[in-house]
Amino acid sequence: MKFFVDTAELSEIRELAETGLLDGVTTNPSLIKKSGRDFKKTIAEICEIVSGPVSAEVVAMDYEGMILQGEELSKIAPNVAIKVPLTMEGLRACKYFTTTGRMVNVTLCFSASQALLAAKAGATFISPFVGRLDDISQDGMQLIADIMAIYGQYPEFTTEVLVASVRHPMHIVEAAKLGAHVMTAPANVIKALVNHPLTDKGLAQFLKDWEATGQKL
Ligand code: E4P
Repeated sequence: MKFFVDTAELSEIRELAETGLLDGVTTNPSLIKKSGRDFKKTIAEICEIVSGPVSAEVVAMDYEGMILQGEELSKIAPNVAIKVPLTMEGLRACKYFTTTGRMVNVTLCFSASQALLAAKAGATFISPFVGRLDDISQDGMQLIADIMAIYGQYPEFTTEVLVASVRHPMHIVEAAKLGAHVMTAPANVIKALVNHPLTDKGLAQFLKDWEATGQKL
C-alpha cells in the first residue's frame, strides 16, 4: 500500500519523507487555506521534497477552465497529479489529461457509480472519502470494498484506489485488508500507526535490564 500525506505543511512533509515511508502528497484548497501560503509555490516546494505524486487541485468548474488550470499546475513539476472534482466536466478533463500523459486524481468520490466513471475516464487515482461518509452515518469502508470488487472485475482498469478522508489508524488497516492501492492521511494519523503500549512497556524493560548489566555498546 502506498502512503500519501494529506497536508500542505512543508515541515510535516519533510519529517515524513525522512522516514523513507512516504510515497506522495495530497493537497486540497482547504489545506492550502490552512497553510496560509501561496498555492503554486507550495506545490513546487513539495515536489522538491517528494518525488512521488503530488496532488494539486483545479478550482474551475467548467472543462475549459479545468484544462487551463491543469496545464498551469502540471508545468510546476513532472510529479504533479492534477486533481479534478467528480463531475462530468471533471471526468472530461480527466480523460484529456490522462490521454496526454498526465497523472490525474479524481476527488470527492462518494459512490461506486462515480468510481466506475472515473476508471472509464482513465483516472490515475480515484479518491473515495471514507471519513466524510462515516460522518453522515454511511459506511465509508464498504465503499472501498465495493470499488475494489468492481475494479477487480475489469483488468483493463488501471485506476488506483486512493483512500481519502482518513481519520484514524483503523481506517488504514481496514483499507489495506481490502487491498486498496493507496491511502492519504494527515501526518498525525500516519505517525499514530506505530504506537502500541506493549512496545513502549517492552522497550522500557529492555533498557532497564540492559542498564543493569553495566555493559556498553
Ligand atoms: C484527499 O485528497 C482530501 O484532501 C482529504 O483526504 C479530505 O479529507 P477530510 O475529509 O478530512 O477533509
